[in-house]
Amino acid sequence: MYKILEKRELASAIWLMKVHAPRVASSARPGQFVIVRADECGERIPLTVADYDAREGSVTIVIQTIGVSTKKICALDPGQCLADFAGPLGRPSEFVSEDLQTLRGKKILFVAGGVGTAPVYPQVKWLAEHGVRADVIVGAKNRDMLIMTEQMRAVAGNLYIATDDGSEGFKGLVTEVIRHLIEQQGRHYDLCVAIGPMIMMKFVALTTRDYGLKTIVSLNSLMVDGTGMCGACRVSVGGKTVFTCVDGPEFDAHLVDFDEAMRRQGMYRTQEQRALKIAEERAAGHKCRIGLDK
Ligand code: NAD
Ligand code: FES
Repeated sequence: MYKILEKRELASAIWLMKVHAPRVASSARPGQFVIVRADECGERIPLTVADYDAREGSVTIVIQTIGVSTKKICALDPGQCLADFAGPLGRPSEFVSEDLQTLRGKKILFVAGGVGTAPVYPQVKWLAEHGVRADVIVGAKNRDMLIMTEQMRAVAGNLYIATDDGSEGFKGLVTEVIRHLIEQQGRHYDLCVAIGPMIMMKFVALTTRDYGLKTIVSLNSLMVDGTGMCGACRVSVGGKTVFTCVDGPEFDAHLVDFDEAMRRQGMYRTQEQRALKIAEERAAGHKCRIGLDK
């Protein structure tokens, strides 16, 4: 069992949880993820690691409550336990194994979209700890939906904020900021890493392709076992079928078939919405009239 040490709401329906998981904390690397279950009957939910502290034995995850299972996880309070906290899973970010001198000579741009800011943070932090100050663009719908900006500011070179409604920073999409930095400010980057909603990663890839800028994305495909056995997380990269859980989650953005990935991600949306409605009605004490709660 994995005790919840801390829980905070970062923005509407976005929760931070610090969990006691010493073995995961001691071996986690930037770019990896965990699979969490609230209880023994719970669905396995893949979540990106937002921070880890080997000395404290803690791992921080950030969860957006979008379905029955994420709501169940976020309903738990500090002192209570998660049934499963499997990880670290997936491959660490490529730069972790790069020669440090070469890495220090590189200009890296991170693009974090909404909840995707959480998995970007440990990557930027790791780089700062190893003498590399990366630039970061954080995009969100509005000021209230921005998360972890102060922590990010402490480890980033330059931090650029963009909101869709202009309530903070630049008014517009992260892709417009990328163009502005390269075209108006004459910035040169050797690598771009984009993490956020699939549609954002698709358009970041299309934007950076124009500049020949190598781009990595972290895919949040549907997952079941997280061990490469079930095939639920398969995506096409460079015309080949690969598994996000064991071959990723990071891939060359210019080779990913985003349209297929988005279709697969939406496959179970109807069932998820139905399960959520049933859970909400149960919580409100209603008996389902058409027998869906059997
Ligand atoms: P959001 O919809 O608020 O988007 C965040 C930012 O992305 C926007 O402010 C905008 O700047 C940019 N963006 C969105 N659409 C764009 C487009 N068409 N072109 C260019 N830029 C665009 O983000 P959200 O509501 O926080 O997103 C939640 C989604 O993120 C969920 O679907 C979740 O699964 C996903 N997510 C992904 C990861 C990952 O590892 N890739 C991690 C956490 C969450
Ligand atoms: Fe089953 Fe990746 S989640 S193969």
